[in-house]
Amino acid sequence: MRTQVVIIGSGPSGLLLGQLLAKAGIEAVILDRAGKDYILGRVRAGVLESGTVGLMDEAGAGGRMHAEGLPHGGFSLAFDGRDHRIDLADLTGGKGVMVYGQTELTRDLMQHREAIGAATIYDAANVRPHDFDGRSPYVTYETAGVSHRIDCDFIAGCDGFHGVSRKAAPEKSITTFEKVYPFGWLGLLADVPPVNHELIYANHPRGFALCSMRSQSRSRYYLQCALDEKVEDWSDERFWGELRRRLPAHHADALVIGPSFEKSIAPLRSFVAEPMRFGNLFLVGDAAHIVPPTGAKGLNLAASDVHYLYAGLCEYYQDRSSAGIDAYSARALSRVWKAVRFSWWMTTMLHRFPDTGAFDQKIQEAELDYLTHSRAAATVLAENYVGLAY
Ligand code: APR
Ligand code: PHB
Repeated sequence: MRTQVVIIGSGPSGLLLGQLLAKAGIEAVILDRAGKDYILGRVRAGVLESGTVGLMDEAGAGGRMHAEGLPHGGFSLAFDGRDHRIDLADLTGGKGVMVYGQTELTRDLMQHREAIGAATIYDAANVRPHDFDGRSPYVTYETAGVSHRIDCDFIAGCDGFHGVSRKAAPEKSITTFEKVYPFGWLGLLADVPPVNHELIYANHPRGFALCSMRSQSRSRYYLQCALDEKVEDWSDERFWGELRRRLPAHHADALVIGPSFEKSIAPLRSFVAEPMRFGNLFLVGDAAHIVPPTGAKGLNLAASDVHYLYAGLCEYYQDRSSAGIDAYSARALSRVWKAVRFSWWMTTMLHRFPDTGAFDQKIQEAELDYLTHSRAAATVLAENYVGLAY
């Protein structure tokens, strides 16, 4: 088989890239080692920057997102028993974010891909990129014990942090940067109305808490927890009790509780691999970088990578110019590092670290106080939260 672009990974990066390429008349095959149900079973963040919303529209897959997503013009920072609203719209000249679950976005992209009849091969085992340094790249994989080969012009490694693409890059040509945080997030989903009409990021002596949502009737809550905590030790009752303690009283009193239908613990890490291109192999999204979820940048960074790579591939096929693909890695990384910095900063400002001493505590308090009293400081937060320009 031959195609123009082989996309490894059918997460949001691979699906968005595939859909944009299809719109531009560029043929792509998507391979994923997992099945559709497994991919749609993963619970992830749900805050979209306007650039991500724009790409979903450009891909022709934004209909349900506009109908069911919740546009937010602000969020709250809670600390010291009070909360302070960051008015995103006012601080950024009318910008905001769209609250829409990543699972739903993935489902929409899958459905649109099926509707145009583009090829996706699920449950593909032993996917391997080959010869991407030469002129004839190809990808091999197995289905039901049978080996296959797809020849192509380019390979897009959209296969997440644990994928094969980054590992295929020659060791001497790749540099990685990593910071692992000494805590995790315990997340819970429940069909109860959200405690507030906007998100609340709470700094509390007992640890960080986040109140988010998936809809007017489905809430997503998180608690900072130790890395050795076990989900089994967190009954719903314990979770709700702990969340209440970490919120200012007026929110705690308004909290509606109910049975959860999902609970999981995720570690927090910052990770970047440089460069993001190795010959005709491009790394996209989580395959190249991970950010802690504070600030919800993971999916949005995947989308900006897709934007740069899509633009470069269009230039290549439509204008016969390699300028865009040659600039891909530098363009993507320049935006990635700014989001890595922002996510690290939000994480540092809002969490309790095991070694937080009296000094660090005072610095956190001063930072939060500064944000609530300086429009310039709040603008820096707001501009990054809604997403930097592509
Ligand atoms: N072969 C084929 N497919 C693979 C392989 C492999 N060796 N390894 C992983 N995959 C597939 C996974 O099954 C998954 O469906 O690649 C896909 C990667 O998807 P994601 O992990 O969702 O990564 P990405 O599409 O870049 O999405 C980034 O997801 O992890 C969040 O916070 C992150 O929101 C961000 C977004
Ligand atoms: C979520 O809704 O899952 C979410 C929202 C905001 C974040 C992280 C996660 O910063």
